[in-house]
Amino acid sequence: MTGFEATRGWAQAQDAADPLRAFRGEFHIPPHHGRETLYFCGNSLGLQPKGVRAAVEAELADWSELAVEAHFRGRSPWLHYHEYVRDAMADVVGAKPHEVVAMNTLGVNLHLMMVSFYRPTQERPAILMEAGAFPTDRYALESQVRFHGFDPATDLIEIQPDGPGGTLSMAAIEEAIAEHGHRVALVVLPGVQYRTGQVFDLAAIVRLARVQGCVVGFDLAHAVGNLPLALHDSGADFAVWCTYKYLNAGPGAVAGCFVHERHANADVPRFAGWWGHDKSTRFQMGPQFVPTPGADGWQLSNPPILALAPLRASLDVFTRAGMDNLVTKSRRLTAYLDWLIRSRLDDTLDIVTPNDPLQRGAQLSVRVRAGRDSGRMLFGYLEQQGIIGDWREPDVIRLSPTPLYNRFADCLGAVEAIEAWRGMQA
Ligand SMILES: Cc1ncc(COP(=O)(O)O)c(C=O)c1O
Repeated sequence: MTGFEATRGWAQAQDAADPLRAFRGEFHIPPHHGRETLYFCGNSLGLQPKGVRAAVEAELADWSELAVEAHFRGRSPWLHYHEYVRDAMADVVGAKPHEVVAMNTLGVNLHLMMVSFYRPTQERPAILMEAGAFPTDRYALESQVRFHGFDPATDLIEIQPDGPGGTLSMAAIEEAIAEHGHRVALVVLPGVQYRTGQVFDLAAIVRLARVQGCVVGFDLAHAVGNLPLALHDSGADFAVWCTYKYLNAGPGAVAGCFVHERHANADVPRFAGWWGHDKSTRFQMGPQFVPTPGADGWQLSNPPILALAPLRASLDVFTRAGMDNLVTKSRRLTAYLDWLIRSRLDDTLDIVTPNDPLQRGAQLSVRVRAGRDSGRMLFGYLEQQGIIGDWREPDVIRLSPTPLYNRFADCLGAVEAIEAWRGMQA
């Protein structure tokens, strides 16, 4: 028994009793013909926290009033700006503060991490990944294999999905690591698969890979701000993520990067820049690069202050809401949408995302049973109704109720709209 009910009264009562309900008021909800959209697209671009504007304006004001002096005398001196997001970011991903840094974008960080942690040899040249990974991961990994003079045909090993709806079982991952591990230099997997919404067990993957002597990195684009993460304890060597999805830091926002503390002082090859140089001697402008211990040592450039300000404002929301509280609400909210779809739309939609709450985050990926064309039609209809999810080729609609700003009533509204569309198809 779920205790769920498919009535507006029930959904509104849940929203009224939600301890996190006030946070919705901290976001700009895009309008749609005089009403608020039902926004289910936090998996792609999170909504704008209202605090962002003031955070950016403060830096613009410091720039206009202090110019270069704002590095030292600004309200938040720019010299240390990336450090202002460090603790909150570490909390969100379950890491120690010196293991995380906000810099660049996800794809750039993935390459920088591979410069240091993908060290192929003739005996161990390969990267192990999932088939169907997000394109940038595929492109980045393949290009790294080629860059080192190896052949992706043999040295980029892809684990094929073996589960319902294109999901990947832990058994398949285990088998692939056991079979290929001896020639795998690096394993790269996601925290949440972008198309299916499936969650991977990071710690279990690291355990398996380390037995075979492989380095392990994760792409947490869809996991960060969505799942409870324990990156340090997982033992992963590195992880990268973007901050524009569940973290609501804005389009193309500054990304995050984790380097496990066992590499904090490691003498590994890296692409260096002055902002990664030891802070205490950076301005002596010497020719010899001395890395800052920890993740900070992978920075290249002085940080983009105007782009970091929104991240700072958005992480402040997370700090106040608390990841544990968000996860508790998220599990219930997504379970409600899952239950509504299964009980009201079983003849119309298949849910691709695993039903097990521990194997999914906020996102539910659905396929229209009647096929791709119907799926496109439904997606277009939802957009016209101001119900915003997203479409992923070839045939998936992603709907992600996010706990900071979505309501139980939103889930019911989306399902009622799909029922109305079904009625029109008859
Ligand atoms: C799983 C995953 N990896 C990588 C990316 C690309 O990130 P970026 O363009 O910020 O480098 C995305 C973007 O949505 C993603 O979902």
